[in-house]
Amino acid sequence: MTQSGLRAQPGKPTGIVGRIVGYLMDIYNREDNHWTVSLLNIGETSKVLEIGFGTGLAIADAAKIATHGCVYGIDHSETMLKVAQKRNQSAVKSDRVRLQLGNVMALPFEDNYFDIVYSINCIYFWEPPTEGLAEIYRVLKPEGTVAITARNRDDEIYARWKPNIVRDLLLSSGFVNVKILDGPNPKHPIYCAIGNKLVNQK
Ligand SMILES: C[S@@+](CC[C@H](N)C(=O)[O-])C[C@H]1O[C@@H](n2cnc3c(N)ncnc32)[C@H](O)[C@@H]1O
Repeated sequence: MTQSGLRAQPGKPTGIVGRIVGYLMDIYNREDNHWTVSLLNIGETSKVLEIGFGTGLAIADAAKIATHGCVYGIDHSETMLKVAQKRNQSAVKSDRVRLQLGNVMALPFEDNYFDIVYSINCIYFWEPPTEGLAEIYRVLKPEGTVAITARNRDDEIYARWKPNIVRDLLLSSGFVNVKILDGPNPKHPIYCAIGNKLVNQK
């Protein structure tokens, strides 16, 4: 595999190498997943969507709370779909979790459908990010919550995704009440940009 092929893996884990990348993501991103779900105010009957669910860690957390709702997930990696389905198999069987292949740029859901849409370590791969955010805005109910978690680092790959930049992207996409929450562990700097879809205007 070429270096660029290896570098592409986190953006679309594929095959056996993709499974290893998924295993590593479970280690490095575990805290990011648990912490983000803890911020979302998921209720028993919430309808929730995760974009780029990877191995499905956060899906499992969300499904434990939305016991009478449904947790949906979209990821464009077949390899991750299989891994996440296996992890969440009993919730998938009872139709409390619905996972499918798909791309944030064209979400296969009707307008105003979800109470909460979140995404963890995934916005880096959206070109352009505004198109993905417009899709999230479309599928969220008025007053619904959007949450985007990302690494807060200065190195080349992440400089484009500093908290103020993602906050401004959310604001320019029409979201309101946007705030930045810092992750719990300074040794592993992450943040969550969280906001709401505007209430229907009369
Ligand atoms: C770095 S991994 C993060 C996975 C998981 N959210 C986590 O934090 O452990 C990014 C995931 O987003 C998916 N992804 C990237 N771009 C996507 C897109 N445009 N639409 C849907 N999924 C995407 C990848 O396939 C991968 O599973």
